[in-house]
Amino acid sequence: MSDRKNPTGAPDTGHTWDGNLRELTNQPPRWWMITLYLSGIFMLVYFVLYPSIPTFTGYTKGVLGWTQMKRYEDSTAEIAAIRAPYEEKIKSLPASEIAADKELVNYTQRSVKVLFGDRCAGCHGAGGAGNPGYPVLADDDWLFGGGIDTIQQTITSGRQGMMPGFKAMLSEQELNDLTLHVLAMSKGGEHAPGKELFVNKGCVGCHGMDGKGMQMIGAPNLADAVWRFTPANEESVKYTIAHGVNAPGAAETRNAVMPAFGNQLSETEIKKLAVYVHQLGGGQ
Ligand code: HEC
Ligand code: HEC
Repeated sequence: MSDRKNPTGAPDTGHTWDGNLRELTNQPPRWWMITLYLSGIFMLVYFVLYPSIPTFTGYTKGVLGWTQMKRYEDSTAEIAAIRAPYEEKIKSLPASEIAADKELVNYTQRSVKVLFGDRCAGCHGAGGAGNPGYPVLADDDWLFGGGIDTIQQTITSGRQGMMPGFKAMLSEQELNDLTLHVLAMSKGGEHAPGKELFVNKGCVGCHGMDGKGMQMIGAPNLADAVWRFTPANEESVKYTIAHGVNAPGAAETRNAVMPAFGNQLSETEIKKLAVYVHQLGGGQ
């Protein structure tokens, strides 16, 4: 019985438990010992080459001079070197010429996305998809115009369309008729009594005879299915006509202010944003 407990006949340590349970002194396998020694050597070499052991005032620096910061700086310098020729070109060209150069447009789209996300998407939505109260930029419908220079102007100086509130000038019936006419126009139709008021009350002065708007002052096209203020229902349209948009001194008016970025962003950044937004809408 006791022989089978030590078939190799290995020497033991002389410790015995539970009557006959002996502790042997077998050597660990050779591969295991080699790995152990190698890892010790690796550790020593690593300590010499790289920053590793903490000291009271810092850490051992290692003879290679490697730091995480240096590695980060090296890779940013590499990126900057790749970007430099593009950035130089964008700086020197007008936005319209950047927009005509496929390679520059490609570069711009990729490099300005983060800036758009930081500074514009809060209001205009990711990718310019719009938010309630803020215009969609990723479509072909423009308040102020989708030409590249106009977009650059919009971003530089900001925009603020103005429509007075008509509440005091309209009876309840007239307000209803105008609302029905505006809603009908957006579907290609008309509402006769409202159409007359549209002319008589001066809506045509800004929105035009055909209701198609006037980009110079940011008066939107009312004869299409795109709405600046949603939901596109009677109540909402009536509210706009009654209280106007950015009407001075009117507490209930709709607010619609595009801030100016000319003093916050560089001209190059604004040009890039203009090219990006122009690509989103791709229109005039
Ligand atoms: C605080 C919210 C806000 C921010 C931030 C903002 N916008 Fe605007 N933007 C508006 C509003 C509101 C309008 C519409 C103004 C109006 O209706 O008169 C507008 C209009 C525009 C227009 C004109 C659209 C048209 O149909 O003519 C462009 C282009 C535009 N914004 C681009 C940008 C870009 C690019 C940025 C980022 C640099 C940006 N906006 C940041 C609120 C914002
Ligand atoms: C002084 C110029 C001006 C006059 C006059 C004017 N509007 Fe406007 N209207 C605007 C502008 C500018 C906007 C867009 C404001 C903005 O988004 O910044 C607007 C917006 C609207 C909208 C919102 C459209 C949408 O897509 O949500 C409606 C509806 C509208 N006007 C109807 C009328 C009617 C009806 C009249 C006549 C009773 C009228 N407007 C008179 C300038 C005018």
